Amino acid sequence: MLKKITLKKAVVFMVAVLVIAQAVRPDRTNPPVDPAKTLVASVPVPPAIASNLVRACGDCHSSETAWPWYTNVSPLSWWVANHVREGRREVNFSTWADLDVWRKARKLGDICEQVENKDMPLPSYLLAHREAALSDAERQGICDWTKAEIARMGPLPPEPPGRGRGRGRGRGRERG
Ligand code: HEC
Repeated sequence: MLKKITLKKAVVFMVAVLVIAQAVRPDRTNPPVDPAKTLVASVPVPPAIASNLVRACGDCHSSETAWPWYTNVSPLSWWVANHVREGRREVNFSTWADLDVWRKARKLGDICEQVENKDMPLPSYLLAHREAALSDAERQGICDWTKAEIARMGPLPPEPPGRGRGRGRGRGRERG
């Protein structure tokens, strides 16, 4: 009897916590996109590569995130919104033109590295988005494109001091 009441109380408590949690709403916004600043507007991207990047990365690395209904439910919403915020801060295909040449080159290298190592798209994301999975050939295609793009940029001028990776990193700031 005692056990039963305790379990019931625990369930009621958990439900109450979940209900209250719904009041804490993360920022699930898509900032306006300037079409002139997107990756595809700034650099040549073969259509197949562009569509793979949108499909596999766009929800977290662009300002055009699709927010399915469950991203409205706390605490999942907090987790998803955090991925989008962090993802956009690392690389945002919607604001590619805002990056300086050194950052562009670094981000391209990072993109290749992430897909090659299968670190991106995030494995947790693939659980809910089978359609975002990349085949080996698609991974290779993305990497080859990043290398071609870095080559197309040509030799870069020396980077101004203090701009390198690892400096000026901090919360809320875009990373290197
Ligand atoms: C579910 C959201 C999500 C998806 C989808 C996703 N990313 Fe990410 N990405 C993140 C988050 C969060 C971070 C920052 C934390 C980290 O590095 O794990 C990140 C970091 C990165 C970084 C910087 C990593 C570093 O430390 O150098 C690159 C590059 C990147 N992602 C590329 C991609 C590419 C390319 C794709 C698609 C093939 C992709 N991501 C798909 C969420 C995502």
